[in-house]
Amino acid sequence: TDTTASADTLLEWYDRHRRSLPWRAPPGKRTDPYRVWLSEIMLQQTTVQAVKGYFERFLLRFPDVETLAAAPVEAVMQAWAGLGYYSRARNLHACAQVVTSQHGGHFPADETALLALPGIGAYTAGAVGAIAFDLPAVAVDGNVERVLSRLVALEEPLPRAKSTIRKIALSLLPPKRSGDFAQALMDLGATICTPRKPACALCPWSPPCRSRREGTAETFPRKEAK
Ligand code: ADE
Repeated sequence: TDTTASADTLLEWYDRHRRSLPWRAPPGKRTDPYRVWLSEIMLQQTTVQAVKGYFERFLLRFPDVETLAAAPVEAVMQAWAGLGYYSRARNLHACAQVVTSQHGGHFPADETALLALPGIGAYTAGAVGAIAFDLPAVAVDGNVERVLSRLVALEEPLPRAKSTIRKIALSLLPPKRSGDFAQALMDLGATICTPRKPACALCPWSPPCRSRREGTAETFPRKEAK
C-alpha cells in the first residue's frame, strides 16, 4: 500500500465521487469566476443544501457582475434575505462595483489582487484563484483544516495551526487541477472526514493517514484551550 498522501490519489477519488453542484462546471471545464466567487461567499457560513436554491435564484436576478454592481444595495439585500450574515451581502455588492469599475468587469486572475477586493479573504482568494483560474492556490476552510490535521496528526492547536495547515496544503498541491484539488478536499471533509465518526474505511487517504492509523482521528483538529 501507498503510505504517502498524494493529490493523485485524492483526485482519482474525486473523479469517482464528485458531487454535482450548481456552481460546479462539468468535469474538465472551468466555471465563470463570477459564479465561483458568488458560491464561495454564500457557502462561507451556510450549508451546501441551503445555498443551492439561493444560488440559482440570485443568478436569475443578477446574472453577471455588472448587473450586480448596478443594482441598488437594497435589491441585493433582498435577494440575500434568509442567508444571514448580511455583511457578506454588502461586501458582495461593494466587490461587484470594484470589479466593474477597476477591473473592467473581470475578476483578476491573481491571488493577491483577489485578496484586495472587498469581502475576499485568504480562503475566498484561494478558492476563486484555484477553481476559476487554475492558479496554484489552496482554499483552506474548517473542513480542510480537519482533513489535513488528521492526516498528519497535527498536535499544534487551532487557531495557531492555521499557517502550518496552509503549508501542508501547499505541499500537497498538484501541478495541474488545483481547482479540483481544492474541491476534492472540501468534499472529503464534508462527506468522509466528518467531525464525528469519520468513514475512514471509504477514505482514499486512509493508508497515509497518521491519526487513522493511531485510532485518534476524531480527536483532531486540536483546539486551543479556552
Ligand atoms: N464549500 C465551500 N466551497 C465549496 C465548493 N466549491 N463545493 C462544495 N462545498 C463547498
